[in-house]
Parts: sequence; structure tokens; C-alpha cells
Amino acid sequence: MSTVVLIGTQWGDEGKGKITDFLAERADMIVRYQGGNNAGHTVVVEDKVYKLHLIPSGILYQDKTCIIGSGVVIDPAVLIKELKSLEDRGISTANLKISQRAHVILPYHHLLDQAEEKSKGNKKIGTTIRGIGPTYMDKSARVGIRMIDLIDQTEFEYLLKENVRVKNSMLTRVYNSEGVNYQAVLEPYRSYAEILKKYVADVSIIVNRVIEKGGNILFEGAQGTLLDLDHGTYPYVTSSNPTSGAACIGAGVGPTKIDRVIGVAKAYTTRVGEGPFPTELNDEVGAYIQNQGGEFGTTTGRPRRCGWFDGVIGRYAVRINGLNYLAITKLDVLSGLEKVKICTGYRYRDDIIEEFPASLKLLSECVPVYEELPGWQEDITSAEKLEDLPVNARKYLDRVSEVAGAPVAIIGVGSKRAQTIVTAEI
Ligand code: GDP
Ligand code: IMO
Ligand code: MG
Repeated sequence: MSTVVLIGTQWGDEGKGKITDFLAERADMIVRYQGGNNAGHTVVVEDKVYKLHLIPSGILYQDKTCIIGSGVVIDPAVLIKELKSLEDRGISTANLKISQRAHVILPYHHLLDQAEEKSKGNKKIGTTIRGIGPTYMDKSARVGIRMIDLIDQTEFEYLLKENVRVKNSMLTRVYNSEGVNYQAVLEPYRSYAEILKKYVADVSIIVNRVIEKGGNILFEGAQGTLLDLDHGTYPYVTSSNPTSGAACIGAGVGPTKIDRVIGVAKAYTTRVGEGPFPTELNDEVGAYIQNQGGEFGTTTGRPRRCGWFDGVIGRYAVRINGLNYLAITKLDVLSGLEKVKICTGYRYRDDIIEEFPASLKLLSECVPVYEELPGWQEDITSAEKLEDLPVNARKYLDRVSEVAGAPVAIIGVGSKRAQTIVTAEI
């Protein structure tokens, strides 16, 4: 397995958590490298459901080291709650390490996220309001507070005071909303620092040491390619880079150390939040997929918009991430449909577009060109190997792979760890 980066190829929620957990068995270390608790990764093991937001989905294997890299933004209260809820369920978190350089989400980031969304009116992004964007803004503006600063009392007090002064001025004067009280932030954050300091480390050293020894590492992406700040449907994106290149930056390893990249895609497409979505289905088929797939957000509970598999996006994700393989999840959700469709290109006015466009104006005018394939009626949730799948389901997968331009290595036929078919050695 060696070093594998696993990313989302669509708008997030592709099932990265499940595939990470599945592959984690062969890994020595699992690393989250970007995003924050805007992510919601669900892992189902037998009858137990785990919803992870910040902690890598490898945590359920007790002998693996789990890393939160410098590219992640951390809400300490959420992290502590997640640690506690795992410990309460008998899962040890002793092997977790958090980067000294990861940035900290503070209460004013939540308020700014909310205020910015409100001020945008019907142009809002539909963020998770977890303070993610404002925290990355502070990081880029070089005024952020890192984990290393949080656990240094004097440094934290100084940085917090400065930030509260500036943020309160923005909140009250620009957004006409309430500010935060310095003391009311300081006290709880001091106690968070006390709890978290034992996990804080220079994680790049730890990760590179495992690489040097020839260990297996799985880098777990959050969000998806189309939510990428550079390559996604800007401005309807998140504020980090969910694409594979960010694994190096967010974990502190060089690009020469990455062996393979796997892209996770649903057998259809979903999106939470605002922004264009060419293959969206606002009809009974969309409702069927939403219902069968339980398409409601892990983090916010919002219904996910649903549509057909988009091959233009698939190709784009293969290119941007340098995908070696695809992992196709939730194939079982499409069972029972008479026909299934794959978008192979977009019709834009008199042209056919085969590459994903940068202009949202253009994208919102694009009409998908579909290829229709016969569906399958069988329940496939107990399929253990490719041959167990109905011939039409296999034909569908073959076509998805052809259109996107990457082989399928993993197929998901249910939410449980065991409901996974492997078709290539990773
Ligand atoms: P992530 O954010 O990419 O980790 O994905 P989420 O966990 O937010 O959403 C994926 C949902 O689909 C979760 O509820 C998973 O338990 C579920 N899931 C993952 N793979 C499969 C699959 O192959 N079949 C079905 N039916 N559910 C799946
Ligand atoms: P996982 O890791 C799906 C979306 C939000 C919004 C946009 C910006 O579970 O796949 P943000 O709060 O990040 O500023 O919101 O990004 N979004 C996600 N959608 N899955 C996610 O994570 C997401 N994380 C953010 O809905 O449209
Ligand atoms: Mg999710």
C-alpha cells in the first residue's frame, strides 16, 4: 500500500470516511491534512455508527497512529467532544497527534462566518457556519492562532487580545452584530489547551519517520474536488484545498513521497450548500436517490441535493488529483431504477463542452448530455466480489470508469465496513 492519498472527487460526502476506515486496516498511520469540522465522515462497523469530524477515520483501529496535520483548522471544543465520545465508547485516542502548526478556530470565527453569510443574502455560500472560512482567512492574513500558540499561555493571551480587538471592530462596525468578550473566550480556551497539549507535536517529523521506514500511510481528504478553493466551483467552495496536492502541504511531506492517489466518487452526485450542479435532479428520481441513499448531511443535517453521475466532473477530478484509481461508493442506492444515466459532456449553446469550465455563469447554462443505460433491480448489498453484481451494474461501472478515465479499485455496496468489493490491488 505504501503512501496513498484518498480524496473526494465531487462536492464532498462521497464516502471518504468509510473507504478510509476500510483501507486503514493495511495502514500504519492515517493523516487528516485539511478542512476542519465542516467535514462529517461516517464509519459503520457492524451495528455501530461513528461520525467523525476532525479525527481521522482510522481511529477505530487501536494500533494505528492518527495525525491531524498543519493544514487542518481545529475547533478545540469540538475536538475535545469528539475525543470524549470515542473514549466513552471504549475507543482509545492515545495514538492521536495534532500538529503544532494547525490553526485554531475561535468564537469570533463562528460569528464572522455567520455575519458574512447573512450579509451575502441570496448570494450566500451555504457554509456549515463552523468558522472555517474566517479561520483560513486569518491564516492567510498572518494573524491566526496556532496550536503551538494556544498551549503557550503568554503568547495566546497576546494574540487573542489583538484578534478580539480587530474582530470586534469588524463584527460591530461592518456587520452590525455583537462582538466577543476577551475574558469569556480566554477562560475556556485555557482549559482546552490543558486537555489538548499532550497531543500536540511536530507531526511532519512523525509522518516522515514512518515513510523512511517504509510504512504505510493513508492521507484522508475532507470535502471534495469541486469544493477546492483553487479548482472548485468558486466562490461556492470551502476555504482549503481538498485536492490531492494539499496532502503534502497539510501533512508536511514532499510530493516525491506520495505513491498513489485514490478518488472517491458516489455512483451518482450530491451537493450540500449553494452553487451550480449540472446533473441535479429535481424530480422523483432525485427524491428516490435522496431517500435510498439517506442523503442528509452528517454535520448539519441539511438535505443533500442529488443528481446523476457527472463524467465531466469525473474526468476533471482524475486530472486535478492525478488519480490512479476510483472508489465508487453507494452503488446499492441505484438498485431498483429502470434506467441509469451518466453525463458524458455538457451542451453549452451550440457547443459540446468536455472539460469542466471555470466560469460559473457558463456552468449554470450547461445542459448535461446523458448516456442512458439499463438499470438493475437486484439487491446488491450482500455482493462480495465483482462477479456477484448484476451484469447491468457491472456495465454501469465500466462506463463510469471509461468516461472518467480511471480504473475502479473499490466498490461500495452498503455503509458497513464489510460491504466493500475490492477489484484492484492498491
Ligand atoms: P464523507 O464525508 O465522504 O466521509 O461521506 P459521509 O460520511 O458524509 O456520507 C456518506 C454516507 O454514505 C455515510 O452515511 C456512509 O455511511 C454512507 N455510505 C458510504 N458508502 C456507502 C455505500 O457504499 N452504500 C451505502 N448505502 N452507504 C454508504
Ligand atoms: P466532507 O468531508 C459536503 C460545503 C458547505 C458549503 C461549502 C463551504 O464531509 O465531505 P464551509 O463551512 O466549508 O465554509 O462551507 O462547502 N462543505 C461540505 N459539503 N461535505 C463536506 O465535508 C463539506 N464541508 C464543507 O456545505 O457549501
Ligand atoms: Mg461528509
